[in-house]
Amino acid sequence: MHNVRKVTEDLYWVGGDDHRLHLFENIHPIPRGVSYNSYLLLDKKTVLFDTVDWSIGRQFIENIQAVLDGRPLDYMVINHMEPDHAAMIEEVMLRYPKVKVISNEKAFYLMNQFGFHIDSSKTQEVKEGDKISFGKHEILFVAAPMVHWPEAMVSFDLTNGVLFSADAFGSFGSLDGKLFNDEVKFDREWLDDARRYYTNIVGKYGPHVQSLLKKAAGIDIKIICPLHGPVWRSDLGYFLEKYDKWSRYEPEEKGVMIVYASMYGNTENAVSVLASKLVEKGMTNVVMYDVSKTHVSQLISETFKYSHVVLASVTYNLGIYPLMHNYLMDMKALNLQKRTFGILENGSWACESGKLMQEFLEGMREMTVLNERVTLASSMNESTDEEMNIFVNSILESMKEKN
Ligand code: FEO
Repeated sequence: MHNVRKVTEDLYWVGGDDHRLHLFENIHPIPRGVSYNSYLLLDKKTVLFDTVDWSIGRQFIENIQAVLDGRPLDYMVINHMEPDHAAMIEEVMLRYPKVKVISNEKAFYLMNQFGFHIDSSKTQEVKEGDKISFGKHEILFVAAPMVHWPEAMVSFDLTNGVLFSADAFGSFGSLDGKLFNDEVKFDREWLDDARRYYTNIVGKYGPHVQSLLKKAAGIDIKIICPLHGPVWRSDLGYFLEKYDKWSRYEPEEKGVMIVYASMYGNTENAVSVLASKLVEKGMTNVVMYDVSKTHVSQLISETFKYSHVVLASVTYNLGIYPLMHNYLMDMKALNLQKRTFGILENGSWACESGKLMQEFLEGMREMTVLNERVTLASSMNESTDEEMNIFVNSILESMKEKN
């Protein structure tokens, strides 16, 4: 049975949810599933904006058939060639052999690489600033390179202000019938997944997102139709502001995120003491994450959120605990910057983790590492309690400085 939603009087959401996939890109857990959004415009000509992942292909075809209701499909716009959106290109072409594919040079190149060999008579190449009228609706094509792949572009309907934003403004999470942002409690139920999606999928490309936001500022956007997650038809400024902050690597909140690696509970005990001392001194925005129990995508997302991060690691094989090291590697790969770090190290002999974590952070952009450090020899004692007090004060002082 088809399952569609009307976006505007002549635009339909024809995507679907995938609740069965455990790992997005085979790496990021998605316990709430994910939606693959595709949109079908019924103008004088019919136009499909992007396709979906193969996993929901049958639903997608039923949706298209129901909305077309016997009309032919004239055009298919491909804004992004990643297979979670482009996998159904060939299937659509088989079912609608007269459809013409509109995309850019890089996307057509990738189509070939992925094995979609489309006859040149059925392609129409567009570039930045090109416009095509499909009847009442005129669509402007805007390049959005590296948001999140090099070929990515967005399409803007000049007639009614609908932006087909590709991966930008997307989120993990299945829609479950609630297509629009005003049909969900976004801040409470979706923001964490939206942040985890942005930071892990697009986070590396902040400057490219900034350049897209600058282009977007010049057009009168009324509705944002992303390829994942809710469609935005109200309060656009809320989400645009989040994107602006994330892509400038500015923290959303002043607070302390404590990430710890503890083998037998002694480092965990120390960071619990640290958390209590911070809260007692008035810094109540403190969160603690065990690297061994928290997926790195969640750690990354939270690191984008908080201003201060305490890394607490045992020494393992004379190095940083492997999962802590993995988190640091991911942080570096995603280009995270502008955070203040405190370091707590532990080692029963040859304690090395603090020095190594500091060196790692110094190899990243605009990271501040506090001079004060806590060094444990196996577990906390009276003398390290005093070190901890000094450490707490230095964190709180640095928070004042950032006011
Ligand atoms: Fe949802 Fe970059 O694909």
